[in-house]
Amino acid sequence: MTRPKVFVTRIIRDAGMNLIREVCDADIWDGNMPPSREVLLERVRGVDGLLCLLTDFVDGELLDAAGPQLIVVSNHAVGFDNIVVADATARGIPVGNTPGILTDATADIAFALLLAAARRLPEAERYLRNGKWKTWEPSALLGADLAGKTLGLVGFGRIGQAVAKRAVGFDLRVIYHDPTALPGFGAIKMNSLNELLREADFVSVHTPLNESTRHLVNADFLSRMKPNAVLVNTSRGPVVDQAALFDALKTRQIFSAALDVTDPEPLPLDSPLLTLENCLIVPHIGSASERTRNDMSRLAAENLVAGVMGKKLPHCVNPEVYGDRWFGSP
Ligand code: DGY
Repeated sequence: MTRPKVFVTRIIRDAGMNLIREVCDADIWDGNMPPSREVLLERVRGVDGLLCLLTDFVDGELLDAAGPQLIVVSNHAVGFDNIVVADATARGIPVGNTPGILTDATADIAFALLLAAARRLPEAERYLRNGKWKTWEPSALLGADLAGKTLGLVGFGRIGQAVAKRAVGFDLRVIYHDPTALPGFGAIKMNSLNELLREADFVSVHTPLNESTRHLVNADFLSRMKPNAVLVNTSRGPVVDQAALFDALKTRQIFSAALDVTDPEPLPLDSPLLTLENCLIVPHIGSASERTRNDMSRLAAENLVAGVMGKKLPHCVNPEVYGDRWFGSP
C-alpha cells in the first residue's frame, strides 16, 4: 500500500515526528531556518499533507503549487494567522492547529513578563552586571506593586482566563474586555476597551491577530492607559504598533512594556525598542517548555495523520470544509 506523502517544514519534537514517520512517507526540511518561499513551493509539489510552522506563509499560491491531491494543512501552533484559511477553505482543505495544550505555558510567560516588567528585573540585572550595585539603596530600582491593583485582560479566551487564574493568587483585581467571553475566575467584564484602559494598572493582550486587531494597541490605545500602567503582549507582534509603543515608553506615558512577540520576528537588533530600559522583549517563547512543545508536535502530527487518512482533524479551524460529510460514530 502506498504511504501518504507529506512535507514537514522543520524538525519537530520526537512525539510528533515518530507518529508522522510511522504512517507517512515524510520529506522533512532539516534546516535551522525556515525553508525559503522557493523551497516551500518546490517541496510541497505532489504531497498529500503539509505540516507547517508559524514561520511559513501558506496561501492559495502554495496550495496550488502542491496540487489538487493536497488534503490537509496542519499548523504547529494554536495561532494560524500565517495561513490564509479562506484559501484553504475555498479548496476544501481542512487546516489543523494545536489549541489548549499551550494555554498554561503561555499564561505563565505572560505572568512572568508582567512581574518582570513591574519589578524591573532585566534592568536590575543589567545594573548588577554593569557594576552599578554599590550598596542597598532606599530609592533604587523601585517598581510597581501588584497586590490591590487591577489587571486588564484584552481578550478573555483560554489564555486570558488562565492569566486571570494566576492573578487571583497575587491579589490583583481582574477585569477583561471581550465581547463574546463569559465571566470566570472572578474577572469582571468591561463593556468597552476604554473602560478597561481607564481602570487597568496592567494590561495584558490575548487576542488573535486579524484585521480588526492589527495595531489595536496604537497611539490612541496607549494614550488611554494609566500613566503608570504596564503593557504585556504575548499574542502576536502586529497587534501592537511598535512605533507608537516606542513613543509612549520613551516619554514615560506608560511605565513599561514586556513583549514575547514582535513585528517583525525576529526583531532587528537596531529596533528603537531595544534602546529603552523600560521595554523587556523575549523571542516568542510563550510555548517554549519541554512538555508543551512535545504536546504541540504530537497534536500537529495527529491532525496531519488524520487528514492524510481521510479522517476528520481532531482540531480543525475551518470545519465548514466538511459540510455534511459523515465520519462514523466516535
Ligand atoms: C502559537 O502556537 O500560536 C504560539 O504563538 C506558539 O508559541
